[in-house]
Amino acid sequence: MDNIIKELYDDFIGKVQSVTSFDNLEKLRIEYLGKKGKVSQLMRDLHKLSVEGKKNAGQLINKLKSAIQENLSVCAEHLVATEYDRCIADVPIYDESLIVEKPLGSYHPITLIQRTVEEIFRSMGFTIEDYPEIVDDFNCFQALNIPEFHPARDMQDTYYLSTGQLLKTHTSAVQNHIMRKYGSPLRAVFSSRCFRNESTDASHENTFFQMEGIMIDKGISISNLIYFMKTMLSEVFKCNVLVRLRPGFFPFVEPGFELDINCLICGGKGCPSCKGSGWLELCPCGMIHPKVLEYGEIDPEENSGFAFGLGLTRLSMMKYGIKDIRTFNSCDLKAMSQFTNL
Ligand code: PHE
Repeated sequence: MDNIIKELYDDFIGKVQSVTSFDNLEKLRIEYLGKKGKVSQLMRDLHKLSVEGKKNAGQLINKLKSAIQENLSVCAEHLVATEYDRCIADVPIYDESLIVEKPLGSYHPITLIQRTVEEIFRSMGFTIEDYPEIVDDFNCFQALNIPEFHPARDMQDTYYLSTGQLLKTHTSAVQNHIMRKYGSPLRAVFSSRCFRNESTDASHENTFFQMEGIMIDKGISISNLIYFMKTMLSEVFKCNVLVRLRPGFFPFVEPGFELDINCLICGGKGCPSCKGSGWLELCPCGMIHPKVLEYGEIDPEENSGFAFGLGLTRLSMMKYGIKDIRTFNSCDLKAMSQFTNL
């Protein structure tokens, strides 16, 4: 038995060294540690041994199992690091001192990213919508299940106009209009500048861009939401970006989530752009609350849907390696014009 265990381990080490993808790694894990894997087989063979033999071999097999597990996690860490090096290498170097002599105007990086993402959603059957930046209290809050005096309003420090109207604090303010416009089924994305009275730093601005997306039909579930988010992110970054989903509270979705991506500026180590956490909140999302569907004149008994609010400004920072969010509104033409040809 000792020899068999040793051979099995040597064999495993040979294989784990040549793993180059997460798929291969998972296959290798199943081959060795799966229910019908090689280690379980060894366990099943134990009954052939004497009592003393069983005890020794049992201990050895346990050691073997931990050694395999240890090697698999080291290999997984290595794969993540390699993937990040590749992603970071793909992020163009943004150089504030780079003077680009161009006689013609150029697109703002947010316009570029907005068009890229719109194209991705258009190819998945979404329509592209537009709506004014000045909205009313009903659309921005009440139709989203945030009544007057609801504490959720505190999260969005709002600029009110003397007319009683307000500057859109989020693109969700357009959900009700789109639901009434199309009814179910619908797939739509709508981007806009949004405004909140926030103090600014490297990762906060009082004026930023979001892209909202909603999909409503019979039988839409969280799996649809995750599928569309993953497809969009891998198309934008052209590589596997590490994401994490955390529970998040928004009165207009239930359940609600925060989708974070690993910071591509520091590779997850922590920097001012990600406030040192290695993660960047990119896309809050969730399943549309039945009340919100009702406000939009869509029957929640028959229909369900998801909504997401993608931070276009943050997405541009990640895509183009821009470290400070304030650059976007800086009107620095030299800095902003270098992205046109990317
Ligand atoms: N509108 C929310 C915000 O800006 C984000 C969001 C959109 C959350 C869609 C869930 C669903 O804070």
